Amino acid sequence: MNLPENVVCTLNADGELRKITENFAGKVFVLTDENTVKYCLDKLPVLKEIQAVVITIKSGEQYKNISTLQEIWTQMGENHGDRKSLFVNLGGGVIGDMGGLAASLFKRGIKFVNIPTTLLSQVDASCGGKLAVDFNNLKNEIGLFRNPDKVIISTEFLKTLDANQLKSGMAEMIKHALLYNEDYFDRLCEFDPQKPDYELLSRLIETSVMIKNEFVSKDPTEKGIRKMLNLGHTIGHAIESYSFETEKPLLHGEAVAAGLVCELYLSNNYLDFSHKKLMKVTRLINDLFPPFLFKFDKYEHLYSLMTFDKKNSGGNINFSLVKNFGVYEIDCHCKKEDVFQALSFYNQINI
Ligand SMILES: NC(=O)c1ccc[n+]([C@@H]2O[C@H](COP(=O)([O-])OP(=O)(O)OC[C@H]3O[C@@H](n4cnc5c(N)ncnc54)[C@H](O)[C@@H]3O)[C@@H](O)[C@H]2O)c1
Ligand SMILES: [Zn+2]
Repeated sequence: MNLPENVVCTLNADGELRKITENFAGKVFVLTDENTVKYCLDKLPVLKEIQAVVITIKSGEQYKNISTLQEIWTQMGENHGDRKSLFVNLGGGVIGDMGGLAASLFKRGIKFVNIPTTLLSQVDASCGGKLAVDFNNLKNEIGLFRNPDKVIISTEFLKTLDANQLKSGMAEMIKHALLYNEDYFDRLCEFDPQKPDYELLSRLIETSVMIKNEFVSKDPTEKGIRKMLNLGHTIGHAIESYSFETEKPLLHGEAVAAGLVCELYLSNNYLDFSHKKLMKVTRLINDLFPPFLFKFDKYEHLYSLMTFDKKNSGGNINFSLVKNFGVYEIDCHCKKEDVFQALSFYNQINI
């Protein structure tokens, strides 16, 4: 397995960025949000030295929209951005997705570098070229595929993230382990987000990006095998959407973790994923994530939310399930009563 050609994992992000800017004659812009401007910008002194124009937006998914894009383009125009400018995205998945799109459309596309600063954006959004903003209450509705010219991943940015954000990224890494092998899962179990060992984390992130890259490079436009990256997400997205209707909205990874437990239960039911392994993964998820309980009368509602999933076809809900670590199947169809049983399994193990 390899990292994508445009991705570098380093402990010296400033040094990597310098390699790019020292050969660069155009104006440099850096997109930050109100947190990354405070916690991450100082870790890249090169940006100050070259007098990069800092554009700062409010933080949060609710600002990942077309009005913020307009704000970004206005500031780029006012500061004389042109086709030779470089755009640096310094932030989590919101900044990477939206900044990448801003750069891709400005003057028909300028060079851009992503420096992901959350664990989720390092292990997931850093690879695959998906750029988008939300529109009309639909997530990632307007966007395109384009790879950044460089992605610089460094755990030095993660030190200011709270433990919940770290754990949220870990849900995607658990998914990667399920798609790869049990040895990687066991290595993940060694990482304690309450007392992070950043050297270990750095190696784990590298492995996760390589695993994701295997799926993305074989199927860049998600017609087949890339759908496996949706493991845990069919039920996870439904739980995430439902949580927004309650007083306890979940982080994406928290919902995916619950979705993984349910979809591993279905994997056990439909593809004979071993019960012992189901319980092993469930234990880690229980240790890491707070339970999110829903009553039986919500199952229909959750099921209807699953039917909105973009992977569905011909009225069926398409699940991506696993037979074993590293052995998987896309487009699996499960009976509604089995999906309900999977939700009950998740609820029971949390009581
Ligand atoms: N393009 C892809 O393939 C892909 C994959 C996964 C997720 N995403 C997108 O990513 C977004 C979620 O990403 P996210 O969880 O990184 O969200 P985010 O960008 O909103 O970051 C989460 C929070 O952490 C703060 N933050 C970021 N870096 C920090 C740091 N180093 N220290 C302290 N605080 C910091 C942010 O300000 C924000 O409040 C979603 O919009 C999702 O659609 C895209
Ligand atoms: Zn996800």
